[in-house]
Parts: sequence; structure tokens; C-alpha cells
Amino acid sequence: MLKDIAATAHGVIADFDRTLSRVWHNGKMCETCHGIMDNSALMPPFYRQEANRLLGKYYPIEIDPKMTEEEKIPYMLEWYGQIHNLIVKCRVSQGSLEDMVSASNVKLREGTEKLMNELHTTNVPVLVFSAGMGDILEQVLKHFNVYTNNVKVVSNFFRYDDKGVMVGFKDDLIHMFNKNENAIHSSDYFDKLRGRNNIILMGDSLGDTKMAVGVPQPSCILKIGFLNDKVEERLEKYMKNFDIVLIDDQTMDVASSIVDLMK
Ligand code: TMP
Ligand code: MG
Repeated sequence: MLKDIAATAHGVIADFDRTLSRVWHNGKMCETCHGIMDNSALMPPFYRQEANRLLGKYYPIEIDPKMTEEEKIPYMLEWYGQIHNLIVKCRVSQGSLEDMVSASNVKLREGTEKLMNELHTTNVPVLVFSAGMGDILEQVLKHFNVYTNNVKVVSNFFRYDDKGVMVGFKDDLIHMFNKNENAIHSSDYFDKLRGRNNIILMGDSLGDTKMAVGVPQPSCILKIGFLNDKVEERLEKYMKNFDIVLIDDQTMDVASSIVDLMK
């Protein structure tokens, strides 16, 4: 498969939270897109408290190795519904997002900047496909200087009023387990992939394996899975669904070495 992937034309599809972004750094958990807002001093205390309560309730369901995806989806919809309503109540200003990101402890996986620079200079289209929040994710990519013109973000984006106050979300909800249904939002990315049938896909959730559903066939898709927690309970399923499984690896070394092979 590597030989096929190393053929001339290729593309990259990457999840964001806990895939491009690190899980921990110096012994401390790093923030996700939602975490940046959930812990921001710019958000009101009622929001921070409730968002963290919801995370404590629903994240264990998201990663529960014993539940099926079908069983999890109603809980995920409940989680997004509640958190989205809560964010709207906070009247977040568009201008505050950059400050929230700068004040957070979000970090990209070690070597992500190098990999993204390499993909930019070699003109490889990169799709960042996230069930997080697009407006925050874009700020993170800008913060780390990797939001170049070969990168397309598909995620949940905010709707603003004419004063730049967030009043809701655009388009259909993307959650962890419907990444296959949302390929429509990224059709121009998938158009760019015509003739580029060798794809590297990276994710940390089993739902991420479906991110390439819109890729024109026939294609060779190499799936790299970051298994970040509940390792023993989830390893077997990850081994079945991804081609390569990296356990608690906070780097981009494997993807970078594959991209290096393509040169
Ligand atoms: P991803 O698709 O970029 O990984 O983003 C989805 C992650 O967002 C998911 O693994 C859990 C996380 N999340 C939160 O941390 N807080 C929330 O309120 C929600 C809805 C999701
Ligand atoms: Mg993720």
C-alpha cells in the first residue's frame, strides 16, 4: 500500500482535536476547540461551569468501548444541542476568539508545523474535518501559522449578527459520528482531489475513519489512528479500522516520514 500511496498525486484528510492538536504537554491536558472556550476567562462563569459538567457527562460516552455508534449518537446530539444553546446565550464576539486562543494551552502535535509546511510547499490539498468549532479551529491554525491556501476546514461554523455577535451555527451539525454524511460541505476540496487518489487520513476517533467517504474512487486511503486513551479496551477495534495505530504518540513523526517517502 505504501508504494501506491507514494505515487505522485496525493491528499491529506485530518481530524483536528486530538489529531492535529496534542492531547497533553508537560503532564497537562491540552485544550480542544471546545476546551479553549470552556476554560476561557472571557466566557461567563455559568458557561464554563456548565460546559465542563457536560464534558464530564458526555465525553465518557463518546469513548465508551462497549457502546455502539448507534447507541452513542442520541447522546452526542443531546450534548451538542445543550452546548450550542449555551454558547448562543453568551453573546460571544467574533473579535474575542483570537484572544481566547492565545490565552489557551492548545498545542499542535510535535512536528505538525513541519508537516503542514511540507504539504503547502508541495501543493498537497489538506482537508481539516472537525466536529469541533470551525471559527476557533481556524484561529488555532492561524496562531500556529499553518492556515495556508492548500488547507480547507470543514466544521461547525458560527453565524454572526451585523455587530459580529455569535447568534447560532451555519449548516448542518457535524458530530463525531456523522463525518461521512457531511462530505457535501467540502465538495470543492473533493473536486481538488480528482486525479489525486492517494490519501493519508488521520484521526483519533473511530468516526474519523469515515472522513474520506467523499473521495473519488478508486482510491488508496492510508488510515492513521491516534489511540489516546482507553487503550487496552479500544485497541482491537482501532487495529481493525485503521491501517496504522499510534498509541499515546504526541508527534507527527509517522505521517511526516510517509510524506518524506513520497518526495
Ligand atoms: P474533532 O472532530 O476535531 O476531534 O472534534 C470533536 C471533539 O470535540 C470530540 O472528540 C469531543 C470534543 N468536544 C468537547 O470537548 N466539548 C464539547 O462540548 C463537544 C460537543 C465536543
Ligand atoms: Mg478528534
